[in-house]
Amino acid sequence: MKHDVITEAGTSISGGVHADRRHDSAEKHVTGRAEYCDDIAEPQGTLHAYLGVSTVAHGLIKGMDLSAVLAAPGVIGVLTAEDVPGCNDISPTGQNDEPVFPTEKTEYHGQPLFAVIAETRNAARRAAELARIDYEVLPHALDPLSAQEAGYPHVTAPLKLERGDAQTALSSAAHRIKGQISIGGQDHMYLEGQIAFALPGEDDDVTVHCSTQHPSEAQHMVAHVLGVPSNAVTVNVRRMGGGFGGKESQMNLFCAVAAIAAKKWNRPVKIRPDRDQDMTATGKRHDFVVDYDVSFDEEGRIQGVDGTFAARCGYSSDLSGPVTDRALFHADNAYYYPHVRLRSRPMKTNTVSNTAFRGFGGPQGVVAAERMIEEIAYALGKDPLEIRKANFYGDATDGRNLTPYHQEVEDNILARLIGELEASCGYQARREAILEHNARSSIIRKGIALTPVKFGISFTATWYNQAGALIHIYNDGSIHLNHGGTEMGQGLNTKVAQVVADAFQVDFERIKITKTTTEKVPNTSATAASSGSDLNGMAALDAAEQLKERLIAFAAEKWSVALEEIVFHNNVVRIGEATVSFSDLVREAYMARIHLSAAGFYKTPKIHWDRAAGKGRPFYYFAYGASCSEVSVDTLTGEYRIDRTDILHDVGKSLNPILDKGQVEGAFVQGMGWLTTEELWWDQAGRLRTHAPSTYKIPLASDRPRIFNVQLAEWSENRERTIKRSKAVGEPPFMLGVSVFEALSMAVASVADYRECPRLDAPATPERVLMAIERLKEGA
Ligand code: MTE
Ligand code: MOS
Repeated sequence: MKHDVITEAGTSISGGVHADRRHDSAEKHVTGRAEYCDDIAEPQGTLHAYLGVSTVAHGLIKGMDLSAVLAAPGVIGVLTAEDVPGCNDISPTGQNDEPVFPTEKTEYHGQPLFAVIAETRNAARRAAELARIDYEVLPHALDPLSAQEAGYPHVTAPLKLERGDAQTALSSAAHRIKGQISIGGQDHMYLEGQIAFALPGEDDDVTVHCSTQHPSEAQHMVAHVLGVPSNAVTVNVRRMGGGFGGKESQMNLFCAVAAIAAKKWNRPVKIRPDRDQDMTATGKRHDFVVDYDVSFDEEGRIQGVDGTFAARCGYSSDLSGPVTDRALFHADNAYYYPHVRLRSRPMKTNTVSNTAFRGFGGPQGVVAAERMIEEIAYALGKDPLEIRKANFYGDATDGRNLTPYHQEVEDNILARLIGELEASCGYQARREAILEHNARSSIIRKGIALTPVKFGISFTATWYNQAGALIHIYNDGSIHLNHGGTEMGQGLNTKVAQVVADAFQVDFERIKITKTTTEKVPNTSATAASSGSDLNGMAALDAAEQLKERLIAFAAEKWSVALEEIVFHNNVVRIGEATVSFSDLVREAYMARIHLSAAGFYKTPKIHWDRAAGKGRPFYYFAYGASCSEVSVDTLTGEYRIDRTDILHDVGKSLNPILDKGQVEGAFVQGMGWLTTEELWWDQAGRLRTHAPSTYKIPLASDRPRIFNVQLAEWSENRERTIKRSKAVGEPPFMLGVSVFEALSMAVASVADYRECPRLDAPATPERVLMAIERLKEGA
């Protein structure tokens, strides 16, 4: 399928930007021909590793008897902390709090304590069960509140954002509400689980194929645990079967184990946990308990906000610092808080160390903001949408454009976006109809909610906002493209190749998209924070432009024409009066010894962040969106379904509308799953009991909204100079799922005639919905 686009030069070429183009691997994905890590042919002699894990949540390790493990059939050996030749730490932020294997103490149920290396994966897996470990059991704390009570430390320094005088604004306003909401975590449920496959090389060398969003970090960690320089380690990733943040740091463990074993036995070693171990031994989205205190006037305009965000970080810091920071950065969502104080509480707990997950703490902040809006709406007896609108950010003219982190909102399109969605989905009439329906119907109650999203784009760790790319043009005119980003299904490679095809004005098919490898582009950032195409698209464009410049200079000299007379279009190059095919020009350039390889680089301008002061411009720009969902709830059982969802989402000037729409739909459904059926549940012993799809319910095709209308805001264009004026799309639409949660809340509220804001925690499972209904009925 080719979609032609008209270029600025007025000619038609395939594969340019701002055009629909299917994912470059789409056919391979659906026919099973896409190669994932586990599909790589295993050399003879490949060994397999499996993790042996702790069976207590907190305890001193008094002794580890691995003799039965070693005696089991097919077992070659075991790895413990003693076998780590370099540094026994894989903390992604250098906090030295995350051992590959602990030596003295286990800090969560399911923590890896050793690895078994065997001839087959099954042999390793069976043998791992045979360890006899002697623990002195210690008391444990599983959630942020009990951790606070037990005096557990923060895993990293908390953040405070403050502007104005929140305390005075709270005590002097007409209305004030204090409350608390618990917001659950989420498992990534990528289809392809964690995996690493290490091949030993000569001297210090090792090559690791793995499923990671962050090849450079995997490289640096492997070097760190092996005690070798980074130049000895190569990390490759062709694609992931989903990452969603779960492979930003969580692959470190698997890469470390595979690489250590590969060097120790000088044989290839692969490690692939089964789904249960993947779910118990890798981090998830942080659950939060948010205490809020909000004051407002008669119109529902917020005066002051004080919020405390306590998060279940798990036993180590991992990425909990930046994740809990981002919760604060989004605790305003789309709303201006005249006086505000927000504080994070990144709590250590005896659970797996939580990590990045689509939105990176932002969604939890947004849920808290929307709960405050609801509180105000129910207190004043108004439609929550009216309260939302009353609190939207304004602009420099009304002075209502300053965020709690002192960045000005300069690109606000909330009013237009929400106004258009409100009209196109018939919000007002449908809300009226729903109110009438609820007045008549005693059992099935309905709810509707329209919620906005404003999401800041850039890594808040400013140095991460850089990228590199490498382009070779071979002398047959074919193009080899490499960049630092990774492909996890989001279509990054397709978008970056479109940018390069557009730059050279050649067919998309001329460009070979290659695996990400630390050998070609060094010191890359994680493909995360939705910034993959913003960063790598720009870096690739930089490389392409350097090459074009060289080709143009060469052609100008050879054909004796002015530089401006050379135009690339539709697979040819016009050189004055002459027309030469792209391939012919390349061959001529090669013969004339023109350098046909270029490395590109990009760093995001304008951003800066002073964490200690809580001030700066952490985000280059904001992406916006809005969704409206309608639900039906059975008030006797708590079961519900989503009748309809309408979405209007802003991706600036889209690089590829069909891929962006796919991201919006997928993110919405994932966000909806987080807030509805996906529940993580630990028992008292600290064992995660929802560790497989049998007990952990992600949305099914049958859970999708019955009517699902998704539109991109076609008029939007990034006012900043991003790649082709597009905006990031990966994470922002995740928070569109909040409209489902709020619609459920309205349906629940109807049982007490909307007099009270329902106490509904996330996820709003049918049980929780039923309990919230029962509570309201009892109160009535
Ligand atoms: N889409 C698919 N299909 N699979 C994924 O794993 N990850 C999401 C999002 N969309 C993900 C996805 C997350 S968490 C991020 S940060 C972005 O993609 C990363 O890619 P990008 O920066 O290229 O958008
Ligand atoms: Mo996405 S959570 O930034 O990998």
